[in-house]
Amino acid sequence: MDKFSIQTILGMEPKGQKLIAQGWVRTFRSNRFIALNDGSTINNLQVVVDQDQFDESIIKQINTSSAIAVEGTLVESQGRGQTVELIAENITIYGNADPSVYPLQPKKHSLEFLREKAHLRMRTSTFGAVFRIRHALAFAVHKYFNDRGFFYMHTPIITGSDAEGAGEMFRVTTLPFDNTPRTEEGNVDWKKDFFGKETNLTVSGQLEAEVGAMSLGKVYTFGPTFRAENSNTTRHLSEFWMIEPEVAFIDINGDMDLAEDFLKYIIKYAMDNCADDLAFLDQRITDLEKNMKKEDRREMGLIDTLKFVTENDFQRITYTEAVNILLQSKPYKKKQFEYPVAWGEALQAEHERYLVEKEFRKPVIVVDYPKDIKAFYMKVNEDGKTVAAMDILFPGIGEVVGGSQREDRLDVLLKRMEDMNVPEEELWWYLELRKFGTAPHAGFGLGFERMILFVTGMGNIRDVIPFPRAPRSAEF
Ligand code: 4AD
Ligand code: MG
Repeated sequence: MDKFSIQTILGMEPKGQKLIAQGWVRTFRSNRFIALNDGSTINNLQVVVDQDQFDESIIKQINTSSAIAVEGTLVESQGRGQTVELIAENITIYGNADPSVYPLQPKKHSLEFLREKAHLRMRTSTFGAVFRIRHALAFAVHKYFNDRGFFYMHTPIITGSDAEGAGEMFRVTTLPFDNTPRTEEGNVDWKKDFFGKETNLTVSGQLEAEVGAMSLGKVYTFGPTFRAENSNTTRHLSEFWMIEPEVAFIDINGDMDLAEDFLKYIIKYAMDNCADDLAFLDQRITDLEKNMKKEDRREMGLIDTLKFVTENDFQRITYTEAVNILLQSKPYKKKQFEYPVAWGEALQAEHERYLVEKEFRKPVIVVDYPKDIKAFYMKVNEDGKTVAAMDILFPGIGEVVGGSQREDRLDVLLKRMEDMNVPEEELWWYLELRKFGTAPHAGFGLGFERMILFVTGMGNIRDVIPFPRAPRSAEF
């Protein structure tokens, strides 16, 4: 007898054919109807069990989360809610999940509770949907770039340079903590360490991706990045995945065009390929909102929001315009912002949310930031005060993308590094890109989990990565 995924079975025409389905029991209703799920789709296969035909010992082991195989006949369903059902003729129990000890019940659990059960939460409808969508988005990333002639580049995870300055780093070392070798001056003697120098987990693959762009033309990275900042928010992880395209011969405008086109493409890909999962997540939020006050509910459903983003241009404004808008805003005048608004200050999450959610009500690209609040490698604009940097802000999420045109003039770059205390010796190879065949180039970084948050409508970044790493949290 042939076996098929439940995804495939649900698409079959029921003609009384015999087949095998395998999966985990979602529910067993009235000791007669099994809702079986194998992870291939959010939808369950209804299995009809005639109790009298099976040993009681089998029936007793059909519990929520038990793993089973069913041999049976596929027929048109008599009941509502599904088109086909499988009439069970033979049931194999691979593994029972004894309901007296199994931690998840066939009822709604809080996301916080499920986070503690990350090894089981993927079996729930919500997390199944989230992680299938995560896969689809990852696939779409590769497809987008591959179809456009980009090369996937693997940049190192262990890095010898702390130069990016994107955040605190996790040290990589094999030196002992007690009796750490010291230099004569009493400092840690990194020469005795594994790599003969200080090394850390990377915060970004950008600097190495620039090497790729200046040789292969168009490259992208897609890998894990690590930041040891102590931010316990719903938007920060200590280990997250970043996508960083880097392109030769484009400027900041080309960079913004690429980013906008790319984001729309991957969202559209998820809409086209994950319709059932998105419909489930959309309904999930609608259900949650039932108990909320009207003004706290979303103006648009999840799928409508995604559609809106793919079908409309992102708003593009300069940092200077953004500051002026904020200075004219109600919350500023009513002193409702916690952080100051002034030219030269960083835009905080509250300011970004105002721009996106109140002022423009769509994704916003802010460009040309003051050079003093941005990284050393960003190209200094003609005004001498700003750099060709851009952030893309999304409704409900804030910053999803950070990018820039890179400083390709050696003298300007050296001056910036000196001003910002970036050690030249560490980045000699980066500087040589500007000595030999330098050219305009630009790129950006998309925080993958933040994008998944947006597409799934989930509220906490720890719920869109299978095993989140955050301060004081590295279980599993
Ligand atoms: O803005 P960031 O720090 O930019 C860079 O790292 C550049 N090297 C990118 C480039 O130009 N190639 O980070 C890029 C994005 C942010 O916009 C955000 O979406 C995400 O990475 N991000 C995080 N996501 C989850 N947890 C964190 N702690 C994050 N920090 C940044
Ligand atoms: Mg940033």
